[in-house]
Amino acid sequence: MADLSVNICGLESPNPFWLASAPPTNTGEQIARAFDAGWGGAVWKTLGEPIENVYSRYSSVDINGQKMMGFSNIELITDRSLEDNLIEIEEVKRRYPDNVVVVSLMVESNPDAWDTIIKQVEQAGADAIELNFGCPHGMSERGMGSAVGQVPEYTCDITGWAKASATVPVFVKLTPNITDITVAARAAKDGGADAVSLINTINSITGVDLDSLVPRPVVGDKSSHGGYCGPAVKPIALNMVAAIAADPYTDGLPISGIGGIATWQDVAEFILLGATNIQVCTAVMHYGYRIVQDMHEGLSNYLDSKGMASVNELRGLSVNKVTDWQNLDINYVVKASIDQEKCVNCGLCYIACQDGAHQAIAAERTAEDKTMVKVIDDLCVGCNLCSLVCPVQGCITMQERELGQTHMTWNEYLSDDKPGELYPRPKHGLTIGRA
Ligand SMILES: Cc1cc2nc3c(=O)[nH]c(=O)nc-3n(C[C@H](O)[C@H](O)[C@H](O)COP(=O)(O)O)c2cc1C
Repeated sequence: MADLSVNICGLESPNPFWLASAPPTNTGEQIARAFDAGWGGAVWKTLGEPIENVYSRYSSVDINGQKMMGFSNIELITDRSLEDNLIEIEEVKRRYPDNVVVVSLMVESNPDAWDTIIKQVEQAGADAIELNFGCPHGMSERGMGSAVGQVPEYTCDITGWAKASATVPVFVKLTPNITDITVAARAAKDGGADAVSLINTINSITGVDLDSLVPRPVVGDKSSHGGYCGPAVKPIALNMVAAIAADPYTDGLPISGIGGIATWQDVAEFILLGATNIQVCTAVMHYGYRIVQDMHEGLSNYLDSKGMASVNELRGLSVNKVTDWQNLDINYVVKASIDQEKCVNCGLCYIACQDGAHQAIAAERTAEDKTMVKVIDDLCVGCNLCSLVCPVQGCITMQERELGQTHMTWNEYLSDDKPGELYPRPKHGLTIGRA
């Protein structure tokens, strides 16, 4: 069995699976149950000045019966007293010395406030602290959370204050509500961060109740923009993790990957794109702590199948497989191929290609009133759309064509000494307006 243990900025964790700061880490009793279930670490629900929450806080986007594909909340930081949390941190660390307890913090922007709370949570036994510069609702209107994370100077300065006070590692949790995540990560590094965690939630309105006309989640006759997370945000999180991992400025800065993680495959993807470990919130709110068992088994089996002895061997292997568009091979050619044995003649690929892509699928009505589809090879641009809409697994596949064309980037194509000819592109749209 592959070794799943990881070391992130000096913290030894039995595995890369951590709980993100959120309702699943509200109390010591919950975190104890999570550790018993197999989670390697937990980031405590953000502590700070006690707040009051509103009633009705969550809303979701369900897609075709799949519940909570996107999840939104307007919850603030912990509504429990600091004293209770500190007692429980101490108790959890006493009972689970081998698990990692990171405590998330958010206080007003002055060095004394940070110094006081950091000393308190270190005294209670926190293995590390995470600075919450990410929550985009409620606290940001009070000058905290993403109000800090959106301004690189504030991120740098406050990280510096925390570093001056802390003796344990400092994680900086970044907000995705910005244009370029590398700017925020660089600011955290400049402030002395030992690691970054991302992503926090994305500003959102999940929908509007069409009877009351109030957006969701409903609080009386109003709502507020919330923080979006869950499976829908995973692609955004992966892109941001990869961008930081690839940035030479933040080279070596450990990344704790967060956003839409629910399965061992999700975990593997985040690690491949540069994360040292991962954190989970929505999937645990949906299915409970037990999902970590599948993560253990699935990731171990995957590493075994790849002949890897440790999860650390997987880290970052896909980072240099992400490149700018201009570095792609414009002579790489794939074309769609339909397996007629598997085709259920639904005609979806035909409609999608006809109306939404490149008119490269022909359809015929048979005597049995079935739609027979066929790829028109010369018109196919290999865009993948037909294979994406096809409801039958493995029915439409994209086949690579080796036609002797030379590897060529866009810049090479523009240059005077092209390495070869451009593979001929199909001509579309020549019928309208011509006799
Ligand atoms: C209800 C709820 C409360 C949250 N509270 C916090 C919080 O107190 N501190 C924090 O840093 N992040 C908080 N988050 C954000 C999560 O830690 C996490 O970054 C985000 O949900 C993305 O992960 P996911 O897609 O696995 O949910 C909260 C998320 C949710 C859904």
